[in-house]
Formats: sequence, structure tokens, C-alpha cells
Amino acid sequence: MLPRKLKIAQRSHLPPFMAMEVMAKAAAMEQAGQDILHLEIGQPSSSAPKSVMAGMSSIMAEQRNHGYAVALGLPELRERIARHYQDWYDVDVPVDRVAVTVGSSTAFALSFMAAFDEGDQIALPNPGYPAYRNLMLGMGVEPVMLPAGVDDGWMPNLKQMERWDRLPEGLIIASPHNPTGVIIAADELREITAFCRANGVRLISDEIYHGLSYQTRAETALKFTDDAIVVNSLSKYFSMTGWRIGWMIMPDELAAPVERLAQNLYISAPTPNQRAAIAAFDCAEELDLHCERYAHNREILLNTLPSAFIGNAAPCDGAFYLYCDISALSDDSIAFAADLLEATGVATTPGVDFDQENGHRYLRLSFAGATEVIEEAASRISDFVAKRLSNAA
Ligand SMILES: Cc1ncc(COP(=O)(O)O)c(C=O)c1O
Repeated sequence: MLPRKLKIAQRSHLPPFMAMEVMAKAAAMEQAGQDILHLEIGQPSSSAPKSVMAGMSSIMAEQRNHGYAVALGLPELRERIARHYQDWYDVDVPVDRVAVTVGSSTAFALSFMAAFDEGDQIALPNPGYPAYRNLMLGMGVEPVMLPAGVDDGWMPNLKQMERWDRLPEGLIIASPHNPTGVIIAADELREITAFCRANGVRLISDEIYHGLSYQTRAETALKFTDDAIVVNSLSKYFSMTGWRIGWMIMPDELAAPVERLAQNLYISAPTPNQRAAIAAFDCAEELDLHCERYAHNREILLNTLPSAFIGNAAPCDGAFYLYCDISALSDDSIAFAADLLEATGVATTPGVDFDQENGHRYLRLSFAGATEVIEEAASRISDFVAKRLSNAA
């Protein structure tokens, strides 16, 4: 008898994350000595707030065993997060509904595991952050794409859901949105929560880009409902991507299941990082300066990039992304991003990461970097586009 082949699970056949592949190619070019401008990855170039760094140094200087924390997080951090909802949104959040997670990424995994069964469906905006879909596929939960492109004013189109044969068990929204930067206005958020309540749809609201808005502030779903799972983290506004501290605000009935899942999945988020992170919530002065830089970078891109490149771009009212419609130049965003990287050293992300249907016409640029980098990138892209257009003429 032939030996049985070692098994690989079906769920391991996930689509690649193109942003990471572009990053790998850009890194290889950089290592070979080329001057690369990184507009492909959504992370601030600035460091964690100064007082968080100072706090971490003293925690390290204690030279003691930094053991596990309890699964739902250090009580002081959970309390500070609850107070943040009072400070920012004037919403009361009981501490026992706060869970500290390892980035918001594990909060999604916990939410899917705690609230949904295999075979359940979750609707998610298209375009949208690819990890939602990939994680669901890995868990046997079926992602159902909810149009949120240019034809729908870049907003998740709930009317479509009403026409589906089967209402999904869950709905994810993100505001400000990745990759479009679109913010859901408070009135629309109220309608979405009402729709979910009326139809028994569990809402997951990704609020990771809160604090980064250029026109109107984003409201929390908790203003309108206690049934939603609200996910957030220190990665974006707080400029602490690699610290891997996120959180979720859970409905009462999910607190015990989430605690049991967290105990088994990762035991606890890193204890020293949790301790140091508490100070981050009192650093608005420093962090708002980063936000001013993003606003300035955003203006540079909007004012200097050629219209053929920006095209019918999404509104970009928040987060730090410009989702450009490059259809006047190419209908293959992967090839276009590769050509742009090769010719100019500017790394961007092809839209196919965020939208498998129409993403071939879009490119995402992150403007979270230093202003000099954004200025130089805009100039290189403009030259590249001018050459491409004159070659085509
Ligand atoms: C919309 C959105 N949600 C969640 C995440 C995950 O972030 P983290 O795990 O660092 O909190 C990201 C990261 O880019 C994102 O863009």
C-alpha cells in the first residue's frame, strides 16, 4: 500500500495579499540599492507616542518577569478604553464589554468564531479590506459581497441585501473605509444599525481608522446600538502598528464566549505592551499632528497627481488612502503597479486586493508616510503618466 499523502486543508488555499507581494518586491529592489518610495502599506511612518515609548522603557527597566495577562486584557487598559468612549463619543461602555486583543485582526477572528457558525453568511463591502474575506473563508463562514463601489456612491448598498433570497447572518462595515477612505455619516450609520436590528443581522463595525478624518468625524456604531461588535486598535491613529494591541466592544452575550476563545487562541495580548499602551489615550496633541501631516499629504496627492491617474477616485474623507481609478491608463492594475514600481520605484497596491470584480481598474496609494516621500512620489507618478500618455498618442 502506498503511504498516504500528508494532508493540507482546503482552507489553506487563500488568495495572496497583493500588498504584501508588492512590499516583498519593493524590499528586494531596495536591497539591491534602488530608491523605493513606499505607498503600498497602510501604516504610519511615525513612531508610537513619546510617553508610550518612555513608559515602555521603564517597564523594561523593571527587569522582572512579564507574565501573561488575563485573557480579556489588563483591567487598567480595559478601563482606559471604556473611558475613551466617554471622551470621544460621549457613550457609556461598561468595562466588562471591553476585550483587549492582539491587534484588531484577532478581534475579527474572535468575532467570527463567537457569533457565527460554519455555513453562515456575512455581507461585506466590495471593495473592502481583504483579510475579512480571507479569514471568513478559512473559518467556513461564507463572505457575500455587498456592492460599495462608484455606482453605489461608495457606500454599502443595503437595498441590495433586501433583494437577496437569504439575509446574511452578519454584516461588516468599516468607516473610514479601507481602501476608499469613505466615512459613513451618522444618519446612515443609524439606519444601518436599525436595519440590522430589524432583520436579525449581527453588525461588526470596524472603527480602526477613527481619529483620521478630513471633513467630518466618524461616529461609533455604539451610539445607536449595543448589539454590534465594535472593533478598533492602536495601529492607525495611535501610530502603534507593531505593538499589536487592539480591542473589541462586545454585546453582553458574547463576553463569556470571547473570553474562552481568547484564552485558547492567544492566552493574552502582550503584557508589557498593554501596560505601556494605557498612556496612548492621553497623547491627542502629538497624534493630531500626524493627522495634520496626512491631511497635507492628501492635498498634495489630490492637487498634483494627473487626472488620468486619479480618475473617478473614491472620496477619501478619512483613513490615509487614495483609491485611484486608473482606467484611463490601464485595465490591469497588477501590471500597472509592477510597471510603475519598475520605472519609478513607487510602490502602490493593485485594487484587485480589495475588489476581485473591478479592482483591475484601481490602485491604492497610502499617504501615511513622510511629506517629502509623498511629494517625490507624486512627481515621479506624474512623469510616468505623462510618458505613458505620450507613448500611447
Ligand atoms: C480596515 C482594517 N481593519 C483591520 C486592520 C488590521 O489592523 P491591526 O490588526 O493592525 O489592528 C487593517 C490593517 O490595515 C485595516 O485596514
